[in-house]
This record gives sequence, structure tokens and C-alpha cells, in this order.
Amino acid sequence: MDKQSTKVLDLFCGAGGFSVGIDDDTIEVIAGIDINESALETYRANIDAPGYNIDIAETTPEELLQQIGADTEDIDIVTGGPPCQGFSLAGDRDPDDPRNKLVDSYFDLIAHIEPSLFYMENVKGLLSMDDGEVIRGLEQRIEDIGYEYDYSVLNAADYGVPQTRERLILIGSKHVLPTLPDPTHDDDWVPLRTVLDGTGETADGKSYLVTSPSGDSYQVHGRDSFRTTDAPAYTHTGRYSRLIPPEFVPHDDATPATAQHRRLTKRESARIQSFPDDYEWRGNGIMRQQGNAMPPRLANAISSSIAILKYNNLKADLRESRSYPNVETHRQTKLTDHGFVLAGD
Ligand SMILES: C[S@@+](CC[C@H](N)C(=O)[O-])C[C@H]1O[C@@H](n2cnc3c(N)ncnc32)[C@H](O)[C@@H]1O
Repeated sequence: MDKQSTKVLDLFCGAGGFSVGIDDDTIEVIAGIDINESALETYRANIDAPGYNIDIAETTPEELLQQIGADTEDIDIVTGGPPCQGFSLAGDRDPDDPRNKLVDSYFDLIAHIEPSLFYMENVKGLLSMDDGEVIRGLEQRIEDIGYEYDYSVLNAADYGVPQTRERLILIGSKHVLPTLPDPTHDDDWVPLRTVLDGTGETADGKSYLVTSPSGDSYQVHGRDSFRTTDAPAYTHTGRYSRLIPPEFVPHDDATPATAQHRRLTKRESARIQSFPDDYEWRGNGIMRQQGNAMPPRLANAISSSIAILKYNNLKADLRESRSYPNVETHRQTKLTDHGFVLAGD
């Protein structure tokens, strides 16, 4: 293991969208963890790090580190957000309820490892769950374990992904409050047609995309199911299906599919998530693996905040002195150079 590199533990790693996105000469993913064996097969085929099948809700931090053969000092960054659906903050909250357990286990891990940074990805609907109680609960947990944080809903299309996928991204830091990355493509969205093989069935390339195939017919799910390939695709949910010609008139009944309505290929579906063409897909449910993933281009944009560790070996300093927030002035200058705001500013 390269002592100079920044070490990342990828929790809920799935097929590896985050891991491949942050790949860099100075960043080393030390392990991915998930419970979906098919996604792990894909992970292992592409990422130069072991993919472990471990149930995070059922494993203590000590056991988990023992199983992957790592010490807390080996890990600078933890990435991956626990699915928070059903996370409860009610007064009679049951810590053994599996919906609460995953979030609790996740924060137990962060508290134990004390990484310099952690990233959480989640659905944007988390912000409005239980009238905002869920996000307030997460904020409290993060404050309780001594981290500064920032979060925002980012649209993957703003970072060059051919898909208007919105995700809540939260960054927690032990030392400083990192800012989320500025959009790189907000007035320059990448259209779906640029990642298709050919143009679909119509001569002008203005095919439309529709969801949910089922046998020989498909059901139309609302207006957004139809979108011209001149725009980025709508959110990949693992069920992309057909390209249909623009003269098609949508209606509510199940509509017979014809030869004109070609399916998207798995490779096209992967490109919609910005996976490189040499990414190998293994196991079952490949479209689902793709739909679950963090788009690598978005991961790459987010991980720009890792510059903090490339230029400032803060974790080592912190371990030595525990002197936060009294970092030296020249470090403060460097941090602001790289887009960070010091906590407490
Ligand atoms: C949204 S996907 C993560 C995608 C991934 N971060 C990426 O960048 O491609 C969520 C993942 O959490 C995994 N998962 C759910 N519950 C889990 C648990 N108890 N322990 C470990 N992994 C779990 C699922 O199998 C799924 O692959």
C-alpha cells in the first residue's frame, strides 16, 4: 500500500460508481463493502480493491475492520450513504428496527474510524421525509460525532452526465467545512443521443425514451417518461427501456411495442450513468446495478474536495496534536485556494 496515497473505504459500494469515479494516482480505494453479490462481482472485475460481502447493519465497526484487515489509521475517507428510507426519529425509537439499524451502524463506523472526510449520497426526497425530521436527525448525529458538514442536491447533468439525476450529497469533515463542487456543465448539458449507438429507429435521431417494458407492451408513466434524445435522459432507475419515434402519441393504456421501439443496450445504459465503455458488467440484474450507481463523473466532481488531503496531511497532524481548529495560517491559505472554508468561519 502506497503510504503517500489517500485511502478510501467505499461502503455500500454497489457496482463501483464512486470507486471508479475517484480513481486517481494519489487516491487508493482500499475496499468496497456491499451485500449484493452480483454488484460485488462487477465491483471486483473493475476496481483494484477487494469487494467484501458484509452486512453493515449486522457488523460492529471492530468486526468490520477485522474482516477487511484494516486499522482506523489506514482510512482517510469513508464514502457511501446508508439507505435512509424509513429511518425513524420518533420518541419510542427502536434501535433494533432494521430501518434504524443501518443508519446507526453507519454512524458508529464513522465515529470509530474518524476519517478526515466522509461522503453520503442519498435520494433528494430524504430532505422532505417526515417534514424534514429525517435530515434534522442526521444533522444531529453528525454533530454528535464531532463533524462539520455541508449538503446540497446536485444534478448529475450539471457535471457532464447525460442524465438529469438529482441526488442529495453530504460531506462531513473532521477539520474543515468543504464546499460542494461548482457545476461544470450547467449551461452545457450532454444530450442522450451522444451516448447512443446510432440514432435509434428514426432517421433524424429524435427518438424518444420510454420506461417500463413488460413483455410485448409497456405502460406510460407520466409526462417525464417521454423525453427527446436531444436532452439528457431522465433518472436511471434500472428500468430504462425503449427508444420510440417522435410521431408516437403516448396514452395511458398499455401500448404494444413494435419493431420500431428498440431497447437500450446495457452499454448505452451504462453510458447514461457515465461509466466508461471498458467497464465490465457481471452477475444478475445489470440494469439495476447500473441504476443504483453513483455516476462516476459526479463522484469525480465531488471528490475534488479530496484535494484537502493531497495538499495537507491534516489527518496525521490531527492525530499528533488533536489541535483542531488551530491549524496553521499557511494551511488555511492552501485550503481556501482549493475551495474550502474553515469550519467556524
Ligand atoms: C445506491 S446503491 C450504492 C451505489 C454505490 N455507492 C455506487 O457508487 O455505485 C446502495 C447499495 O447498498 C447496498 N446495501 C443495502 N443494505 C446494505 C447492508 N445492510 N450492508 C451492506 N450493503 C448494503 C445495496 O446492495 C446497494 O448496492
